[in-house]
Amino acid sequence: MSRRIAILPDAVADQIAAGEVVARPASALKELVENAIDAGATRVRITVENGGKTLIEVADDGSGMGREDAVLSLDRHATSKIRSAADLTGVTTFGFRGEALPAIGSVSRLTLTTAEVEGDGTELQVVGGRLEHVGPVARQRGTTVTVRGLFFNTPARRKFLRSAASESRAAYESVATLALAHPAVGIEYVQDGQVRLAAPSGEAETDRLVSVWGRDLVGTLVGVDHAAGAFRISGFVQRPGDASPSGRRTQLFVNGRPFRDPFLVRAAEAGYRAAIHPGDRPSLYLRIDLDPGEVDVNVHPSKMEVRFRDRIGLERTVEDAVRQAIGALVAAAPVGDWRPMPVAPGSGGGGAPFESLFGEAPEGAMASPAGASNATGATDPLSGGLTQLFDTYIAYQAAEGVVFVDQHSAHERVLYEAVMAALSGAGAPSQRLLIPATVELTDEELDALERHQEALERVGFVVEEFGGNTVVLQAVPTPHPRFDAVGCFQEMIADLARGRFGAWANPLERFGATYACRAAVKAGQRLSQAEMRELLLRLFATELPPHDVHGRSTIVQLPREELERRFGRR
Ligand SMILES: Nc1ncnc2c1ncn2[C@@H]1O[C@H](COP(=O)(O)OP(=O)(O)OP(=O)(O)O)[C@@H](O)[C@H]1O
Ligand SMILES: [Mg+2]
Repeated sequence: MSRRIAILPDAVADQIAAGEVVARPASALKELVENAIDAGATRVRITVENGGKTLIEVADDGSGMGREDAVLSLDRHATSKIRSAADLTGVTTFGFRGEALPAIGSVSRLTLTTAEVEGDGTELQVVGGRLEHVGPVARQRGTTVTVRGLFFNTPARRKFLRSAASESRAAYESVATLALAHPAVGIEYVQDGQVRLAAPSGEAETDRLVSVWGRDLVGTLVGVDHAAGAFRISGFVQRPGDASPSGRRTQLFVNGRPFRDPFLVRAAEAGYRAAIHPGDRPSLYLRIDLDPGEVDVNVHPSKMEVRFRDRIGLERTVEDAVRQAIGALVAAAPVGDWRPMPVAPGSGGGGAPFESLFGEAPEGAMASPAGASNATGATDPLSGGLTQLFDTYIAYQAAEGVVFVDQHSAHERVLYEAVMAALSGAGAPSQRLLIPATVELTDEELDALERHQEALERVGFVVEEFGGNTVVLQAVPTPHPRFDAVGCFQEMIADLARGRFGAWANPLERFGATYACRAAVKAGQRLSQAEMRELLLRLFATELPPHDVHGRSTIVQLPREELERRFGRR
Protein backbone atom coordinates (compact mmCIF):
# COMPACT_ATOMS: atom_id res chain seq x y z
CA MET A 1 0.00 0.00 0.00
CA SER A 2 1.35 3.39 -0.86
CA ARG A 3 1.51 6.16 1.69
CA ARG A 4 -0.55 9.18 0.77
CA ILE A 5 -0.02 11.43 3.73
CA ALA A 6 3.19 13.45 4.03
CA ILE A 7 4.34 16.16 6.38
CA LEU A 8 4.64 19.45 4.50
CA PRO A 9 8.05 21.10 4.36
CA ASP A 10 8.34 24.01 6.79
CA ALA A 11 8.47 26.59 4.01
CA VAL A 12 5.12 25.43 2.65
CA ALA A 13 3.58 25.29 6.13
CA ASP A 14 4.80 28.84 6.75
CA GLN A 15 3.22 30.05 3.55
CA ILE A 16 -0.05 28.47 4.50
CA ALA A 17 0.12 30.07 7.94
CA ALA A 18 0.96 33.36 6.22
CA GLY A 19 -2.40 33.17 4.48
CA GLU A 20 -4.07 33.44 7.84
CA VAL A 21 -1.73 35.71 9.76
CA VAL A 22 -0.69 38.02 6.95
CA ALA A 23 -3.73 38.74 4.85
CA ARG A 24 -2.47 42.14 3.70
CA PRO A 25 0.26 44.67 4.50
CA ALA A 26 -1.72 46.05 7.42
CA SER A 27 -1.71 42.66 9.12
CA ALA A 28 2.06 42.22 8.67
CA LEU A 29 2.51 45.69 10.10
CA LYS A 30 0.28 44.87 13.04
CA GLU A 31 2.32 41.76 13.86
CA LEU A 32 5.61 43.67 13.75
CA VAL A 33 4.38 46.52 15.94
CA GLU A 34 2.92 44.02 18.40
CA ASN A 35 6.30 42.30 18.61
CA ALA A 36 7.96 45.64 19.31
CA ILE A 37 5.52 46.44 22.10
CA ASP A 38 5.84 42.92 23.50
CA ALA A 39 9.60 43.49 23.60
CA GLY A 40 9.05 46.39 25.98
CA ALA A 41 9.78 49.18 23.51
CA THR A 42 9.19 52.73 24.70
CA ARG A 43 9.36 54.10 21.14
CA VAL A 44 8.35 52.50 17.88
CA ARG A 45 9.00 54.06 14.50
CA ILE A 46 6.94 52.77 11.60
CA THR A 47 7.54 53.46 7.93
CA VAL A 48 5.21 52.37 5.15
CA GLU A 49 5.50 52.97 1.44
CA ASN A 50 2.94 52.37 -1.25
CA GLY A 51 0.41 50.98 1.19
CA GLY A 52 3.04 48.56 2.50
CA LYS A 53 3.30 46.82 -0.84
CA THR A 54 6.88 47.99 -1.38
CA LEU A 55 8.05 48.67 2.17
CA ILE A 56 7.07 48.09 5.77
CA GLU A 57 9.62 48.90 8.42
CA VAL A 58 9.24 48.77 12.18
CA ALA A 59 12.09 49.91 14.43
CA ASP A 60 11.96 49.67 18.21
CA ASP A 61 14.10 50.27 21.28
CA GLY A 62 12.91 47.13 23.03
CA SER A 63 14.84 44.20 24.47
CA GLY A 64 16.39 43.08 21.20
CA MET A 65 17.62 39.53 20.62
CA GLY A 66 20.91 37.69 20.85
CA ARG A 67 22.13 35.90 17.70
CA GLU A 68 20.72 32.46 18.54
CA ASP A 69 17.34 33.84 19.46
CA ALA A 70 17.27 35.97 16.34
CA VAL A 71 17.75 32.91 14.15
CA LEU A 72 15.24 30.92 16.18
CA SER A 73 12.64 33.68 15.98
CA LEU A 74 12.18 32.86 12.32
CA ASP A 75 11.25 29.26 13.05
CA ARG A 76 7.66 28.19 13.36
CA HIS A 77 6.33 27.94 16.90
CA ALA A 78 9.41 29.70 18.20
CA THR A 79 8.22 32.03 20.90
CA SER A 80 9.63 33.47 24.08
CA LYS A 81 6.19 34.39 25.38
CA ILE A 82 4.61 31.18 26.56
CA ARG A 83 6.04 27.85 27.55
CA SER A 84 2.96 25.68 28.03
CA ALA A 85 -0.71 25.52 27.15
CA ALA A 86 -1.54 26.65 30.68
CA ASP A 87 0.24 29.95 30.02
CA LEU A 88 -2.35 30.71 27.35
CA THR A 89 -4.94 31.61 29.95
CA GLY A 90 -4.24 35.12 31.02
CA VAL A 91 -1.48 35.71 28.44
CA THR A 92 -0.71 39.42 28.52
CA THR A 93 1.54 39.76 25.49
CA PHE A 94 0.08 40.31 22.03
CA GLY A 95 2.00 37.38 20.62
CA PHE A 96 2.09 33.78 21.81
CA ARG A 97 1.74 31.64 18.70
CA GLY A 98 5.30 31.97 17.41
CA GLU A 99 4.04 32.29 13.87
CA ALA A 100 4.19 35.88 12.77
CA LEU A 101 7.85 36.35 11.86
CA PRO A 102 8.25 33.07 9.94
CA ALA A 103 4.93 33.69 8.19
CA ILE A 104 5.94 37.16 7.04
CA GLY A 105 9.43 35.92 6.12
CA SER A 106 7.99 33.19 3.95
CA VAL A 107 6.19 35.64 1.66
CA SER A 108 8.64 38.57 1.47
CA ARG A 109 12.24 39.74 1.52
CA LEU A 110 12.77 40.32 5.21
CA THR A 111 15.71 41.91 6.96
CA LEU A 112 16.01 41.78 10.72
CA THR A 113 18.63 43.68 12.65
CA THR A 114 18.66 43.34 16.38
CA ALA A 115 20.88 43.83 19.42
CA GLU A 116 20.44 42.94 23.07
CA VAL A 117 23.41 45.09 24.02
CA GLU A 118 24.61 48.06 22.10
CA GLY A 119 27.25 47.30 19.50
CA ASP A 120 26.79 43.51 19.50
CA GLY A 121 24.09 43.25 16.87
CA THR A 122 22.96 40.66 14.37
CA GLU A 123 21.65 41.06 10.87
CA LEU A 124 19.52 38.38 9.19
CA GLN A 125 18.15 38.19 5.71
CA VAL A 126 15.33 35.93 4.68
CA VAL A 127 14.00 35.63 1.14
CA GLY A 128 10.78 33.72 0.59
CA GLY A 129 11.34 31.75 3.78
CA ARG A 130 15.03 30.93 3.10
CA LEU A 131 17.63 32.26 5.50
CA GLU A 132 20.22 33.80 3.17
CA HIS A 133 22.50 35.71 5.48
CA VAL A 134 23.44 35.97 9.14
CA GLY A 135 26.13 38.36 10.26
CA PRO A 136 27.21 40.94 12.79
CA VAL A 137 26.11 44.54 12.61
CA ALA A 138 26.54 47.59 14.81
CA ARG A 139 23.37 48.99 16.25
CA GLN A 140 21.78 50.22 19.46
CA ARG A 141 19.67 48.00 21.65
CA GLY A 142 16.42 47.13 19.93
CA THR A 143 15.15 45.59 16.75
CA THR A 144 14.36 46.73 13.22
CA VAL A 145 12.39 44.57 10.83
CA THR A 146 12.23 45.61 7.19
CA VAL A 147 9.81 43.89 4.86
CA ARG A 148 10.06 44.46 1.11
CA GLY A 149 8.15 42.95 -1.76
CA LEU A 150 5.37 41.44 0.31
CA PHE A 151 3.81 38.47 -1.54
CA PHE A 152 6.50 38.60 -4.25
CA ASN A 153 6.45 34.79 -4.37
CA THR A 154 2.69 34.30 -3.98
CA PRO A 155 1.22 36.04 -7.05
CA ALA A 156 -2.32 34.85 -6.30
CA ARG A 157 -2.24 36.69 -3.03
CA ARG A 158 -0.56 39.74 -4.49
CA LYS A 159 -3.41 40.05 -6.95
CA PHE A 160 -5.86 40.45 -4.09
CA LEU A 161 -4.14 43.53 -2.73
CA ARG A 162 -6.22 46.68 -2.99
CA SER A 163 -5.08 50.10 -4.14
CA ALA A 164 -2.21 51.75 -2.30
CA ALA A 165 -4.68 54.23 -0.82
CA SER A 166 -6.89 51.50 0.54
CA GLU A 167 -3.95 49.46 1.92
CA SER A 168 -2.56 52.64 3.49
CA ARG A 169 -5.85 53.29 5.21
CA ALA A 170 -5.89 49.77 6.64
CA ALA A 171 -2.27 50.15 7.74
CA TYR A 172 -3.09 53.38 9.52
CA GLU A 173 -6.02 51.72 11.28
CA SER A 174 -3.73 48.96 12.57
CA VAL A 175 -1.28 51.50 13.92
CA ALA A 176 -4.03 53.63 15.47
CA THR A 177 -5.48 50.65 17.29
CA LEU A 178 -2.12 49.64 18.76
CA ALA A 179 -1.33 53.23 19.69
CA LEU A 180 -4.60 53.34 21.64
CA ALA A 181 -3.93 49.99 23.30
CA HIS A 182 -0.57 51.18 24.65
CA PRO A 183 -0.77 54.89 25.42
CA ALA A 184 2.63 54.91 27.09
CA VAL A 185 4.52 53.66 24.05
CA GLY A 186 5.69 56.44 21.75
CA ILE A 187 4.54 55.77 18.19
CA GLU A 188 5.69 57.54 15.08
CA TYR A 189 4.09 56.57 11.82
CA VAL A 190 5.46 57.78 8.50
CA GLN A 191 3.51 57.01 5.37
CA ASP A 192 5.06 57.76 1.99
CA GLY A 193 7.36 60.30 3.58
CA GLN A 194 4.68 62.05 5.61
CA VAL A 195 4.27 61.84 9.36
CA ARG A 196 0.71 60.63 9.91
CA LEU A 197 0.93 60.02 13.64
CA ALA A 198 3.38 61.26 16.22
CA ALA A 199 2.25 60.16 19.65
CA PRO A 200 4.88 60.78 22.33
CA SER A 201 5.83 58.11 24.83
CA GLY A 202 4.43 58.27 28.36
CA GLU A 203 1.01 59.59 27.36
CA ALA A 204 -2.00 59.09 29.61
CA GLU A 205 -4.99 57.30 28.13
CA THR A 206 -7.07 60.36 27.35
CA ASP A 207 -4.10 62.27 25.89
CA ARG A 208 -3.40 59.33 23.64
CA LEU A 209 -7.03 59.28 22.54
CA VAL A 210 -6.67 62.94 21.57
CA SER A 211 -3.42 62.17 19.71
CA VAL A 212 -5.09 59.44 17.67
CA TRP A 213 -8.73 60.48 17.26
CA GLY A 214 -8.23 64.23 17.40
CA ARG A 215 -9.50 66.83 19.84
CA ASP A 216 -12.74 67.52 17.96
CA LEU A 217 -14.02 63.99 18.14
CA VAL A 218 -12.77 63.36 21.67
CA GLY A 219 -14.58 66.51 22.79
CA THR A 220 -17.89 64.84 21.97
CA LEU A 221 -17.26 61.82 24.21
CA VAL A 222 -18.44 61.14 27.72
CA GLY A 223 -17.14 58.64 30.25
CA VAL A 224 -18.50 55.16 30.81
CA ASP A 225 -17.93 53.18 33.97
CA HIS A 226 -20.14 50.33 34.92
CA ALA A 227 -19.59 47.02 36.65
CA ALA A 228 -22.03 44.16 36.81
CA GLY A 229 -21.43 40.53 37.65
CA ALA A 230 -18.18 39.37 36.11
CA PHE A 231 -17.77 42.41 33.85
CA ARG A 232 -16.46 45.90 34.15
CA ILE A 233 -17.05 48.28 31.24
CA SER A 234 -15.19 51.57 31.06
CA GLY A 235 -14.13 54.03 28.42
CA PHE A 236 -15.91 56.67 26.40
CA VAL A 237 -18.91 56.96 24.12
CA GLN A 238 -20.22 59.77 21.99
CA ARG A 239 -22.94 62.11 23.18
CA PRO A 240 -26.20 61.27 21.41
CA GLY A 241 -26.49 64.74 19.91
CA ASP A 242 -23.05 64.48 18.30
CA ALA A 243 -23.48 61.10 16.66
CA SER A 244 -23.76 61.21 12.89
CA PRO A 245 -24.28 58.67 10.12
CA SER A 246 -20.67 58.69 8.92
CA GLY A 247 -17.12 59.04 10.17
CA ARG A 248 -17.53 57.25 13.44
CA ARG A 249 -14.68 55.38 15.10
CA THR A 250 -14.92 52.36 17.31
CA GLN A 251 -12.38 50.66 19.49
CA LEU A 252 -12.94 47.73 21.80
CA PHE A 253 -10.50 46.15 24.24
CA VAL A 254 -10.78 43.06 26.34
CA ASN A 255 -8.35 43.04 29.25
CA GLY A 256 -6.34 45.64 27.35
CA ARG A 257 -6.21 43.66 24.12
CA PRO A 258 -7.84 45.29 21.10
CA PHE A 259 -10.36 43.19 19.23
CA ARG A 260 -13.27 43.47 16.84
CA ASP A 261 -16.82 42.46 17.55
CA PRO A 262 -19.74 43.83 15.55
CA PHE A 263 -22.22 42.32 17.99
CA LEU A 264 -20.81 44.20 20.93
CA VAL A 265 -20.81 47.38 18.88
CA ARG A 266 -24.46 46.74 18.19
CA ALA A 267 -25.13 46.10 21.88
CA ALA A 268 -23.51 49.44 22.68
CA GLU A 269 -25.66 51.13 20.05
CA ALA A 270 -28.71 49.53 21.61
CA GLY A 271 -27.76 51.42 24.75
CA TYR A 272 -28.63 54.60 22.91
CA ARG A 273 -32.06 53.22 22.13
CA ALA A 274 -34.05 56.05 20.68
CA ALA A 275 -31.73 58.79 21.89
CA ILE A 276 -30.07 59.05 18.49
CA HIS A 277 -31.57 59.44 15.05
CA PRO A 278 -32.02 56.23 13.16
CA GLY A 279 -28.92 55.76 11.03
CA ASP A 280 -26.59 57.68 13.34
CA ARG A 281 -23.50 55.75 14.34
CA PRO A 282 -21.91 56.90 17.59
CA SER A 283 -18.16 56.63 18.18
CA LEU A 284 -17.26 54.13 20.87
CA TYR A 285 -14.12 53.44 22.89
CA LEU A 286 -14.86 50.67 25.36
CA ARG A 287 -12.69 48.63 27.65
CA ILE A 288 -14.02 45.33 28.91
CA ASP A 289 -12.30 43.82 31.90
CA LEU A 290 -13.07 40.37 33.16
CA ASP A 291 -11.46 37.29 34.58
CA PRO A 292 -9.03 35.98 31.92
CA GLY A 293 -10.64 32.57 32.22
CA GLU A 294 -13.87 34.04 30.86
CA VAL A 295 -12.42 34.87 27.45
CA ASP A 296 -10.51 32.88 24.84
CA VAL A 297 -8.16 35.09 22.82
CA ASN A 298 -6.78 32.26 20.71
CA VAL A 299 -9.66 31.65 18.34
CA HIS A 300 -8.22 33.40 15.31
CA PRO A 301 -4.65 33.54 13.94
CA SER A 302 -4.69 37.33 13.78
CA LYS A 303 -6.24 37.48 17.28
CA MET A 304 -8.70 40.17 16.25
CA GLU A 305 -11.61 38.00 17.34
CA VAL A 306 -12.11 36.56 20.78
CA ARG A 307 -14.67 34.28 22.33
CA PHE A 308 -16.57 35.06 25.52
CA ARG A 309 -18.04 32.44 27.79
CA ASP A 310 -21.02 34.57 28.77
CA ARG A 311 -21.63 36.56 25.63
CA ILE A 312 -25.27 37.33 26.37
CA GLY A 313 -24.44 38.66 29.81
CA LEU A 314 -21.64 40.74 28.35
CA GLU A 315 -23.83 42.24 25.64
CA ARG A 316 -26.42 43.18 28.22
CA THR A 317 -23.79 44.76 30.45
CA VAL A 318 -22.36 46.79 27.58
CA GLU A 319 -25.81 48.03 26.64
CA ASP A 320 -26.53 48.98 30.26
CA ALA A 321 -23.19 50.73 30.61
CA VAL A 322 -23.84 52.91 27.57
CA ARG A 323 -27.40 53.66 28.58
CA GLN A 324 -26.30 54.77 32.02
CA ALA A 325 -23.55 56.95 30.62
CA ILE A 326 -25.73 58.81 28.18
CA GLY A 327 -28.85 58.76 30.33
CA ALA A 328 -27.13 60.62 33.13
CA LEU A 329 -25.68 63.00 30.62
CA VAL A 330 -28.79 63.91 28.71
CA ALA A 331 -30.88 64.33 31.82
CA ALA A 332 -28.27 66.65 33.22
CA ALA A 333 -27.21 68.55 30.15
CA PRO A 334 -29.59 70.88 28.38
CA VAL A 335 -32.35 71.45 30.87
CA GLY A 336 -30.86 71.55 34.33
CA ASP A 337 -32.91 69.91 37.04
CA TRP A 338 -36.14 69.39 35.20
CA ARG A 339 -37.62 66.82 37.53
CA PRO A 340 -39.59 68.95 39.95
CA MET A 341 -38.93 66.89 43.06
CA PRO A 342 -38.08 63.32 43.85
CA VAL A 343 -41.04 61.24 42.71
CA ALA A 344 -42.29 59.01 45.50
CA PRO A 345 -41.91 55.30 44.80
CA GLY A 346 -44.81 53.87 42.88
CA SER A 347 -46.39 57.16 42.01
CA GLY A 348 -45.24 57.31 38.42
CA GLY A 349 -44.62 53.81 37.24
CA GLY A 350 -48.05 52.40 36.59
CA GLY A 351 -49.54 52.16 40.07
CA ALA A 352 -53.25 52.53 40.52
CA PRO A 353 -53.60 56.29 41.01
CA PHE A 354 -52.35 57.44 37.63
CA GLU A 355 -53.74 54.89 35.35
CA SER A 356 -56.42 56.61 33.40
CA LEU A 357 -54.53 58.32 30.64
CA PHE A 358 -51.87 55.75 29.96
CA GLY A 359 -52.67 52.67 31.94
CA GLU A 360 -54.83 49.69 31.32
CA ALA A 361 -57.96 51.12 32.87
CA PRO A 362 -60.83 51.43 30.42
CA GLU A 363 -62.50 54.70 29.66
CA GLY A 364 -64.43 56.23 32.51
CA ALA A 365 -62.19 54.95 35.28
CA MET A 366 -60.29 58.23 35.59
CA ALA A 367 -59.04 58.61 39.13
CA SER A 368 -58.80 61.90 40.90
CA PRO A 369 -55.08 62.60 41.09
CA ALA A 370 -55.26 64.85 44.13
CA GLY A 371 -57.19 62.29 46.13
CA ALA A 372 -54.99 59.53 44.86
CA SER A 373 -51.75 61.11 45.89
CA ASN A 374 -53.13 61.70 49.37
CA ALA A 375 -54.25 58.13 49.54
CA THR A 376 -50.78 56.81 48.73
CA GLY A 377 -49.08 59.35 50.92
CA ALA A 378 -46.85 60.47 48.02
CA THR A 379 -45.61 64.03 47.93
CA ASP A 380 -47.16 65.84 45.05
CA PRO A 381 -44.25 66.91 42.90
CA LEU A 382 -46.36 69.22 40.78
CA SER A 383 -48.04 71.24 43.47
CA GLY A 384 -47.03 74.44 41.66
CA GLY A 385 -49.78 73.84 39.13
CA LEU A 386 -49.65 73.04 35.44
CA THR A 387 -50.53 75.22 32.49
CA GLN A 388 -51.26 74.03 28.99
CA LEU A 389 -50.00 76.45 26.33
CA PHE A 390 -51.33 76.46 22.76
CA ASP A 391 -52.92 73.08 23.53
CA THR A 392 -49.44 71.70 22.82
CA TYR A 393 -47.04 72.40 25.68
CA ILE A 394 -47.28 71.85 29.40
CA ALA A 395 -45.53 74.45 31.55
CA TYR A 396 -44.63 74.23 35.22
CA GLN A 397 -42.28 75.73 37.75
CA ALA A 398 -39.23 73.67 38.66
CA ALA A 399 -36.37 74.21 41.06
CA GLU A 400 -34.24 76.02 38.51
CA GLY A 401 -36.73 77.76 36.29
CA VAL A 402 -39.77 77.27 34.11
CA VAL A 403 -40.06 73.98 32.26
CA PHE A 404 -41.96 73.42 29.04
CA VAL A 405 -42.87 69.91 27.97
CA ASP A 406 -44.02 68.98 24.48
CA GLN A 407 -47.08 66.86 25.20
CA HIS A 408 -46.88 64.73 22.09
CA SER A 409 -43.21 64.01 22.34
CA ALA A 410 -43.48 63.35 26.09
CA HIS A 411 -46.29 60.90 25.56
CA GLU A 412 -44.38 59.28 22.74
CA ARG A 413 -41.47 58.71 25.14
CA VAL A 414 -43.71 57.19 27.76
CA LEU A 415 -45.45 54.92 25.28
CA TYR A 416 -42.21 53.92 23.64
CA GLU A 417 -40.83 52.67 26.89
CA ALA A 418 -44.05 50.86 27.73
CA VAL A 419 -44.37 49.30 24.33
CA MET A 420 -40.75 48.11 24.29
CA ALA A 421 -41.37 46.47 27.65
CA ALA A 422 -44.51 44.88 26.27
CA LEU A 423 -42.73 43.66 23.15
CA SER A 424 -39.97 41.96 25.07
CA GLY A 425 -42.13 40.83 27.96
CA ALA A 426 -45.58 39.38 28.33
CA GLY A 427 -47.27 41.79 25.97
CA ALA A 428 -49.73 44.56 26.63
CA PRO A 429 -53.34 44.00 27.60
CA SER A 430 -55.90 44.74 24.96
CA GLN A 431 -59.60 45.27 24.85
CA ARG A 432 -61.93 43.16 22.74
CA LEU A 433 -64.10 45.33 20.60
CA LEU A 434 -67.86 44.82 20.99
CA ILE A 435 -68.24 45.51 17.33
CA PRO A 436 -65.10 44.42 15.49
CA ALA A 437 -63.82 47.01 13.05
CA THR A 438 -63.13 46.12 9.43
CA VAL A 439 -60.24 47.80 7.66
CA GLU A 440 -59.34 47.77 3.96
CA LEU A 441 -55.65 47.39 3.22
CA THR A 442 -53.55 47.65 0.08
CA ASP A 443 -51.44 44.69 -1.04
CA GLU A 444 -48.31 46.29 0.40
CA GLU A 445 -50.08 46.91 3.67
CA LEU A 446 -51.21 43.29 3.82
CA ASP A 447 -47.57 42.26 3.40
CA ALA A 448 -46.54 44.63 6.18
CA LEU A 449 -49.29 43.20 8.37
CA GLU A 450 -48.02 39.68 7.81
CA ARG A 451 -44.47 40.69 8.67
CA HIS A 452 -45.46 42.50 11.83
CA GLN A 453 -48.44 40.47 13.00
CA GLU A 454 -46.69 39.04 16.04
CA ALA A 455 -45.48 42.44 17.19
CA LEU A 456 -48.92 43.90 16.59
CA GLU A 457 -50.44 41.26 18.80
CA ARG A 458 -47.94 41.89 21.53
CA VAL A 459 -48.95 45.51 21.75
CA GLY A 460 -52.61 44.51 21.71
CA PHE A 461 -53.90 44.53 18.13
CA VAL A 462 -55.66 41.26 17.40
CA VAL A 463 -56.23 41.16 13.66
CA GLU A 464 -57.94 38.53 11.55
CA GLU A 465 -58.10 38.20 7.81
CA PHE A 466 -61.54 38.54 6.40
CA GLY A 467 -60.97 37.75 2.75
CA GLY A 468 -59.67 39.84 -0.08
CA ASN A 469 -57.92 42.92 1.23
CA THR A 470 -60.16 43.26 4.26
CA VAL A 471 -59.02 42.55 7.80
CA VAL A 472 -60.95 42.64 11.04
CA LEU A 473 -59.70 44.22 14.24
CA GLN A 474 -60.98 42.00 17.05
CA ALA A 475 -59.13 43.65 19.89
CA VAL A 476 -57.09 46.82 20.30
CA PRO A 477 -54.68 48.32 22.85
CA THR A 478 -55.93 51.03 25.18
CA PRO A 479 -53.03 53.32 25.92
CA HIS A 480 -55.39 56.16 26.85
CA PRO A 481 -59.09 56.94 26.71
CA ARG A 482 -58.85 59.19 23.70
CA PHE A 483 -57.01 56.61 21.73
CA ASP A 484 -58.31 56.19 18.19
CA ALA A 485 -57.39 52.54 17.77
CA VAL A 486 -58.58 52.06 14.22
CA GLY A 487 -56.96 55.27 13.01
CA CYS A 488 -53.69 54.34 14.74
CA PHE A 489 -53.77 50.87 13.21
CA GLN A 490 -54.27 52.28 9.72
CA GLU A 491 -51.51 54.85 10.12
CA MET A 492 -49.11 52.28 11.51
CA ILE A 493 -49.71 49.78 8.76
CA ALA A 494 -49.25 52.54 6.20
CA ASP A 495 -45.98 53.62 7.86
CA LEU A 496 -44.72 50.07 8.08
CA ALA A 497 -45.64 49.37 4.46
CA ARG A 498 -43.92 52.51 3.25
CA GLY A 499 -40.85 51.78 5.39
CA ARG A 500 -41.02 55.22 6.89
CA PHE A 501 -38.89 54.05 9.79
CA GLY A 502 -36.75 51.93 7.51
CA ALA A 503 -33.38 53.07 8.81
CA TRP A 504 -33.96 51.61 12.27
CA ALA A 505 -31.51 48.82 12.83
CA ASN A 506 -33.81 46.86 15.07
CA PRO A 507 -37.25 46.05 13.65
CA LEU A 508 -38.79 45.88 17.11
CA GLU A 509 -37.55 49.35 17.94
CA ARG A 510 -38.89 50.57 14.65
CA PHE A 511 -42.21 49.06 15.43
CA GLY A 512 -42.22 50.51 18.94
CA ALA A 513 -41.38 53.95 17.62
CA THR A 514 -44.14 53.79 15.03
CA TYR A 515 -46.66 52.73 17.59
CA ALA A 516 -45.56 55.32 20.14
CA CYS A 517 -45.71 58.09 17.59
CA ARG A 518 -49.12 57.10 16.33
CA ALA A 519 -50.67 56.35 19.68
CA ALA A 520 -49.49 59.44 21.53
CA VAL A 521 -51.74 62.43 22.19
CA LYS A 522 -51.24 64.97 19.45
CA ALA A 523 -50.29 68.59 19.53
CA GLY A 524 -53.48 70.66 19.63
CA GLN A 525 -55.38 68.34 21.97
CA ARG A 526 -56.70 70.02 25.09
CA LEU A 527 -55.70 68.12 28.23
CA SER A 528 -57.21 68.29 31.69
CA GLN A 529 -55.12 69.05 34.80
CA ALA A 530 -55.35 65.40 35.74
CA GLU A 531 -54.17 64.24 32.35
CA MET A 532 -51.26 66.67 32.25
CA ARG A 533 -50.13 65.57 35.66
CA GLU A 534 -50.38 61.97 34.83
CA LEU A 535 -48.40 62.45 31.69
CA LEU A 536 -45.63 64.25 33.56
CA LEU A 537 -45.47 61.71 36.33
CA ARG A 538 -45.15 58.98 33.76
CA LEU A 539 -42.47 60.93 31.97
CA PHE A 540 -40.48 61.43 35.15
CA ALA A 541 -40.60 57.72 35.77
CA THR A 542 -39.07 56.81 32.41
CA GLU A 543 -35.41 55.99 32.28
CA LEU A 544 -35.05 57.49 28.84
CA PRO A 545 -33.47 60.81 28.04
CA PRO A 546 -35.67 63.80 27.25
CA HIS A 547 -35.74 63.31 23.51
CA ASP A 548 -38.57 61.80 21.58
CA VAL A 549 -38.05 58.88 19.23
CA HIS A 550 -37.09 61.24 16.41
CA GLY A 551 -34.46 62.95 18.55
CA ARG A 552 -36.44 66.17 19.02
CA SER A 553 -36.47 67.73 22.46
CA THR A 554 -39.19 66.72 24.83
CA ILE A 555 -38.31 69.26 27.48
CA VAL A 556 -37.08 72.83 27.28
CA GLN A 557 -36.19 74.87 30.28
CA LEU A 558 -36.13 78.62 30.74
CA PRO A 559 -33.71 79.09 33.63
CA ARG A 560 -34.76 81.41 36.38
CA GLU A 561 -31.50 83.32 35.95
CA GLU A 562 -32.43 84.03 32.38
CA LEU A 563 -35.77 85.50 33.48
CA GLU A 564 -34.03 87.59 36.11
CA ARG A 565 -31.48 88.80 33.63
CA ARG A 566 -34.18 89.87 31.21
CA PHE A 567 -36.09 91.71 33.91
CA GLY A 568 -32.93 93.42 35.05
CA ARG A 569 -32.98 91.76 38.45
CA ARG A 570 -29.35 90.64 38.13
N1 LIG B 1 10.87 43.41 17.89
C1 LIG B 1 11.28 42.37 18.63
N2 LIG B 1 12.09 42.56 19.70
C2 LIG B 1 12.52 41.50 20.45
N3 LIG B 1 12.17 40.23 20.21
C3 LIG B 1 11.35 39.96 19.17
C4 LIG B 1 10.88 41.01 18.32
N4 LIG B 1 10.10 40.44 17.36
C5 LIG B 1 10.10 39.12 17.60
N5 LIG B 1 10.83 38.81 18.69
C6 LIG B 1 11.05 37.46 19.25
O1 LIG B 1 10.76 36.54 18.25
C7 LIG B 1 9.78 35.61 18.69
C8 LIG B 1 8.89 35.23 17.52
O2 LIG B 1 8.07 36.33 17.12
P1 LIG B 1 6.68 36.02 16.43
O3 LIG B 1 5.95 37.27 16.21
O4 LIG B 1 6.94 35.14 15.27
O5 LIG B 1 5.96 35.14 17.52
P2 LIG B 1 5.23 35.61 18.84
O6 LIG B 1 5.17 37.06 18.95
O7 LIG B 1 5.86 34.88 19.97
O8 LIG B 1 3.78 35.00 18.61
P3 LIG B 1 2.69 35.47 17.49
O9 LIG B 1 2.90 34.59 16.30
O10 LIG B 1 1.43 35.17 18.19
O11 LIG B 1 2.97 36.88 17.20
C9 LIG B 1 9.03 36.33 19.80
O12 LIG B 1 8.48 35.41 20.73
C10 LIG B 1 10.16 37.18 20.42
O13 LIG B 1 10.88 36.44 21.35
MG1 LIG C 1 4.39 38.27 17.43
